[in-house]
Amino acid sequence: RVVAVIMVGGPTKGTRFRPLSLNTPKPLFPLAGQPMVNHPISACKRIPNLAQIYLIGFYEEREFALFVSSISNELRVPVRYLKEDKPHGSAGGLYNFRNQIMDESPSHIFLLNCDVCCSFPLAEMLEAHTSYGGMGTILVIKVSPESASQFGELVADPVTNELLHYTEKPETFVSDRINCGVYIFTPDIFTAIQGVSSQRKDRATLRRISSFEALQPANRSLPSDFVRLDQDILSPLAGKKKFYVYETTDYWEQIKTPGMSLKCSGLYLAQFRRTSPHLLASGDGTKNAAISGNVYIHPSAKVHPTAKIGPNASISANARIGAGVRLANCIILDDVEIKENAVVIHAIVGWKSSIGRWSRVQASGDHNAKLGVTILGESVTVEDEVVVINSIVLPNKTMNVSVQEEIIL
Ligand code: GDD
Repeated sequence: RVVAVIMVGGPTKGTRFRPLSLNTPKPLFPLAGQPMVNHPISACKRIPNLAQIYLIGFYEEREFALFVSSISNELRVPVRYLKEDKPHGSAGGLYNFRNQIMDESPSHIFLLNCDVCCSFPLAEMLEAHTSYGGMGTILVIKVSPESASQFGELVADPVTNELLHYTEKPETFVSDRINCGVYIFTPDIFTAIQGVSSQRKDRATLRRISSFEALQPANRSLPSDFVRLDQDILSPLAGKKKFYVYETTDYWEQIKTPGMSLKCSGLYLAQFRRTSPHLLASGDGTKNAAISGNVYIHPSAKVHPTAKIGPNASISANARIGAGVRLANCIILDDVEIKENAVVIHAIVGWKSSIGRWSRVQASGDHNAKLGVTILGESVTVEDEVVVINSIVLPNKTMNVSVQEEIIL
């Protein structure tokens, strides 16, 4: 039997995702028309002998209650939300719920970060892990040397795939192979986390009875139940035949900013084209809008037949898209109204916002630039014939003059 755990974090994480995380927990923000965390959940559903999926986080229970019951019904896989009373770090969070997780007597535990976008080759990882042995296998990918430093960099044995060296976000270049935030472990991982935690307790005791703290200032602030998977487990256990790597050649991205969510929404739409094309809009029939490329339209959205939509557009529940509107590379959230002949390109339009006639909401489309995607927060009004370019607009603002390269607070 296998269980899967998805780390969803909490309200104090995901700050770079503002303003989109101001009213909605980041894991529930829709990519390709589905909450971010649906994508790893759907991937887990394909694991043979999967008994249970746990979401671990420190958001309030009620923020996930509705989601968890509806996704469990929809996918017919039991999904449970386990709430931490405070952040315990990526390994500490897992350890905190070891009893619940071990209730299922799993032979293997998948651990997934919720803010990564990839094809989640979980069955392949399980197979590779079984052939390597060891305590865990990490999904890795080769990236450009310039971008590697934002991630955990690692070195593995090219023949045995053993993890030889691991450094979290190093200042100087170590390797272009990085940690994708997707792991499979045996239950021995709990013993490893327990080890780090008791070491911390011993140090704390030492500190109380000696001047040890002055010698080890770096260890001063971490409580014994706060354990990070990367720095505290992978780094010290690299080169000890405990961890192995499985390299993917598929797509992989990390979703820290709104701009990256737009890119990842497009990657998931492209995946739907291969795996579930019925979820995508098709432009056939004279009553429908012109569709190009991969587009998702919620069944409750109303799209005028003269609108032109795509590529990479996703339109959420109850949105109303008027005559002659042009939408491309965008995410349109629930209850948005886009009036006649408006244009939205490289942009995310927040819940209940409204865009006036002949207005333009646009950006360059550079996903890594701070203002490369225009973001309108919740309930923003763009009046008729107003142009908003490469800008971020916070919730509840009314735009009656055009702006470019601005953050409207
Ligand atoms: N429940 C819970 N509790 N979740 C947490 C906590 C916690 O205390 N701390 C972090 N997380 C979740 C985050 O929501 C995220 O899904 C995941 O754990 C990792 O978050 P961070 O520990 O903040 O690390 P990161 O995202 O900057 O980097 C990690 O992931 C990269 C891949 O995306 C590292 O493991 C990198 O090495 C890796 O490249």
